[in-house]
Amino acid sequence: MIRIDYTNVMAETIGERDGILREELLSFRHFVVETHSRIQKEKERKFYFAKLPYQDTEYIKIVAQEIREKFDYFVLIGIGGSSLGAQMLFESLKGINHNIFNRPKFFIMDNVDPDKFKAIMDIIEIEKTCFNVISKSGSTVETIANFAIILDVLRSELSERWNQHLIFTTDPEKGFLRKFGSENNIKMLDIPSHVGGRFSVLSPVGLFPAAVLGIDIDQLLEGAKKMDLICSIEEHIEHNPAYLIALTHYIANMRRGKTISVMMPYSEKFSSFVDWYRQLWAESLGKDGLGQTPVKALGTVDQHSQIQLYRDGLRDKIITFIQIEKRESDFKIPENIPEDINYLSGHTLHEILNKELLGTKAALIKSKVPNITISLDRISPYNIGMLIYLYEMATGFSGYLYKINPFDQPAVEEGKNFTYALMGREGYKHKLEEFEELYKERYKIEIQ
Ligand code: PA5
Repeated sequence: MIRIDYTNVMAETIGERDGILREELLSFRHFVVETHSRIQKEKERKFYFAKLPYQDTEYIKIVAQEIREKFDYFVLIGIGGSSLGAQMLFESLKGINHNIFNRPKFFIMDNVDPDKFKAIMDIIEIEKTCFNVISKSGSTVETIANFAIILDVLRSELSERWNQHLIFTTDPEKGFLRKFGSENNIKMLDIPSHVGGRFSVLSPVGLFPAAVLGIDIDQLLEGAKKMDLICSIEEHIEHNPAYLIALTHYIANMRRGKTISVMMPYSEKFSSFVDWYRQLWAESLGKDGLGQTPVKALGTVDQHSQIQLYRDGLRDKIITFIQIEKRESDFKIPENIPEDINYLSGHTLHEILNKELLGTKAALIKSKVPNITISLDRISPYNIGMLIYLYEMATGFSGYLYKINPFDQPAVEEGKNFTYALMGREGYKHKLEEFEELYKERYKIEIQ
């Protein structure tokens, strides 16, 4: 179960300067009805992520089971949309203890940071490791660089068995990984052509690592299906959770100057969910001088770090809290504690966490800071599947509000192209000339 409480973004609660009037929200109804039917038509193409909940997962589960039986370590090589989804599923549904008590142990090689690379290599044993190389384009520098080193290690340590330690997840037809995989008899999983990186967590990109880790991927998809059903039948703004999230953020941004969207879960397990959301919101909507900057915070930790600013700094934020209603385990503060602190006796950590959230929300209402609360009855694959689909649809719908294409990322490609040029890739010489023109180190200070 997911509940969305948007009372505290409404003008009724925080006033008209910062809050949204109900009439204002409802004034978008014609736009919503029109956009709703456009989205339904686009589900075969741009909105293909909406088809993913209905895929057949049998092959993913069979291959995942083989990996679980054969390997002690499972390393994902990929970055951005090719890694953040799996990381979010791992941290929210397995958690930090997984690698201590379970196998296969899971690691992500996303960055090209030699310290991180070494740290992972120091832990894993190559003959017991499966590497899942994930890249839609098959050419992202970080992924290909990490893969190239691993390929050499595999070939030198395992001789002709090297290809049995690799699985590629990539475009069904194009790119280097597809070609190399076919030539070398490497097992491959397809990323559907119309699904881009940050919308791909419910494709084999996220589902396969999740299945290897023992996460119930069918339940994830069941949750996503439920959200798809609601979002497909409900054209009314107040009944369609994705349109509601999109519209409240859009109005807050464009009409109330809330250029920052903070997501603050009161759950450590949701920390990576915010990383996933940050990419989705930023890379999809940050275009043509528009978009909101997504910011990560964590309750209660950031109450002691950020709330001063959120309440009393620039009035440029809308905050989304994530609350978990029931935990698998909880711990009670004992009765026999010193008198000075015995107001806590008998209360649990979970209770304190939620009371702190309530206290923070009351303080924000007092300062007229718009905030939404998404409550989950518990952390489960079903609920996370719902939440993933909710934010993907809210992002896609927001594209229509901002009148931008949420499914491309031209500004990211530019940086990638300069990197190719700097690394001497064939066909990028003109970019090197452009780089030299643009990039100068004119003002510097150096201290020894
Ligand atoms: O959302 C996106 O498209 C990007 O963030 C990509 O996921 C990221 O750049 C990695 O690309 P690829 O999967 O092609 O290696």
